[in-house]
Amino acid sequence: MSDDLLARAQAAAGRAYAPYSNYLVGAAVRARSGRIYEGVNVENAAYPLGICAERTAIACAVVDGCGPGDLVEIAITASPCGGCRQWLHEFRLGRVTFPRAGGEVVSFTPGDLLPEAWDLPA
Ligand code: THU
Repeated sequence: MSDDLLARAQAAAGRAYAPYSNYLVGAAVRARSGRIYEGVNVENAAYPLGICAERTAIACAVVDGCGPGDLVEIAITASPCGGCRQWLHEFRLGRVTFPRAGGEVVSFTPGDLLPEAWDLPA
């Protein structure tokens, strides 16, 4: 497990913009290059427009040139929501680490978290 990556996610969570839920989430994704990209949840007064921490981290990696297969692992300070699981599947993350509600830190593959995931038909 990547203690360092989870520590980065926890530190990032402090910079979340979550004035509506007050639920601060952080994420940190490690690319094959070794670079780490952080993300936080960013909420909006029009509630559905908010974005999750995992997705902002992955989006930052994409801005820097990463695509599916370039992201080795991600640590998140909370269990990823269903929509984010589809993103983790899309970008073929190797490993997804987060603390369970009780505090136990666990790691999964995207396939573990989203079995029978949907893909665009070829
Ligand atoms: N949230 C995340 O950032 N990631 C998840 O996978 C679960 C939910 C955020 C979205 C919203 O800003 C807040 O947590 C409460 O739902």
